[in-house]
Amino acid sequence: MWRDRRLLDLFGIEHPIVQAPMVGSCTPDLAGAVANAGALGSIGCGGKPIDLVRQEAEAIRARTNRPFNMNFFITTGETTDASVLDSARERLKPWYLNLRLGEPPVELPDPAIGFDEDRLELILSLRPKVVSFHFGIPDASPIEAMKSVGILLISSATNVAEARALESAGMDAIIAQGWEAGGHRGSHVPTAPFDGVGTMALVPQIVDAVSVPVIAAGGIGDGRGIAAAMALGASGVQMGTAFLNCPEAATDPARRERLRHATERDTMVTDAFSGRSARAVRSRYAEEMERNRQELPKFPQMYALSAPIKDAADDDEASFLLYGQAAALSQEIPAADLVAQLAGDAYKVMKRMASR
Ligand SMILES: Cc1cc2nc3c(=O)[nH]c(=O)nc-3n(C[C@H](O)[C@H](O)[C@H](O)COP(=O)(O)O)c2cc1C
Repeated sequence: MWRDRRLLDLFGIEHPIVQAPMVGSCTPDLAGAVANAGALGSIGCGGKPIDLVRQEAEAIRARTNRPFNMNFFITTGETTDASVLDSARERLKPWYLNLRLGEPPVELPDPAIGFDEDRLELILSLRPKVVSFHFGIPDASPIEAMKSVGILLISSATNVAEARALESAGMDAIIAQGWEAGGHRGSHVPTAPFDGVGTMALVPQIVDAVSVPVIAAGGIGDGRGIAAAMALGASGVQMGTAFLNCPEAATDPARRERLRHATERDTMVTDAFSGRSARAVRSRYAEEMERNRQELPKFPQMYALSAPIKDAADDDEASFLLYGQAAALSQEIPAADLVAQLAGDAYKVMKRMASR
C-alpha cells in the first residue's frame, strides 16, 4: 500500500503514522490502541517519576505486543538567576494580587530531571522498540548503550542544522517539527515564540539535508495532510492534536470542549507558562506577556510562577491548553478507527493524484 516503506520497515509497523507522545494527554490505553491498529503508539515520559514511567510501559505491554515509543525531554538542568526571578515576580505581581494569590513564590523548585542514568537503566531493561527525545540530543554514551541493544532512536528538529546534528549523533529517523505543531517546540536551544519554520517549508529542506527517514509533524490533521507530507519527501508523520479528542486520551474536559469548536486561529506560541516556547490556546495572560517580552525563569522552572495564575484564572484569561493549528480537523472517535481512517484517506488521496 505505501510506496515509501523506510519507516514501516524500520519500526515494524503497518501505517506511517506516529501518535505523538504528549505528557498529560496520552495514556497507555491510547498508545496500546494505536499500536494494535498498526501505527506507532507513544507515551510521554518527560518530567515523570521513574516508577510511573515503568508502570506506564508495563501497562502498554499489557495492551499490545506491537512496537511502541517512549519519549523523554533533554533538559540542561540550568537554574534561573536571582535577578531574573526577581523581575519575573515583579512582572506577575498584579496577576497574583488580582487573583488574590498572595505574593509570587520567592524560590523555584529544582529543574526537572532529564534523561539521566536511572532512566537509561530503566530503558535498557524495558527495551521499547523506539525511544524519542524532545529539546535536543542525548549524550553519546546513552545513545551507544541504547543502540547496542537494538533500540531505535528518534528526536525532533525545528530547523535544518538541528536535523543534521541529530543525524550525526546517530538518530535512526528525524522528526521535522513545523511551526503549526501543538505543544512545546522541540528546538535544541530555547527560541523566541515568534521564531519558527512552517511544516511545508521545513520538511523538504530536512529531507534534502539528511539520509535517514524524516517524520513530518505539525498541523497534519487528516489523510490529506499525510499525503502532503509524503509528497514533501517525509517517510511518515507524527500527529498529536488529531489524537487529543480520542476517548482513550487523558485530555481534560475544558480542552475537549475547546477542540469541538476549534478554529485555525485559536492558538499562539508563548514561553510565558513554562519558560520554553509552546503552542497553546490564546489567553490574555499570554498575549500580555508576549507584547512586552522580558527574560523569564528557565524551563521548566517558570511553571512554578505561572501555574497558580493559570489554575485560578478563567480559561480566556490564562490557560495552558496545548493544541495545534489543525485542531478543527480533530474528531471524537476511538484511536483505532482514527488510525484506519487516516491511513485509508491518505492512501486514497495519493492514488487519486497519481491517476490524474
Ligand atoms: C498536548 C500536547 C502535548 C505534547 N507533549 C509532547 C511531549 O511530551 N513530548 C514530545 O516530544 N512532543 C510533545 N508534543 C508535540 C508533538 O510531539 C508533535 O510535535 C505535535 O503534536 C505535532 O503537531 P500537531 O499537534 O499539529 O499534530 C505535544 C503536543 C501536544 C498537542
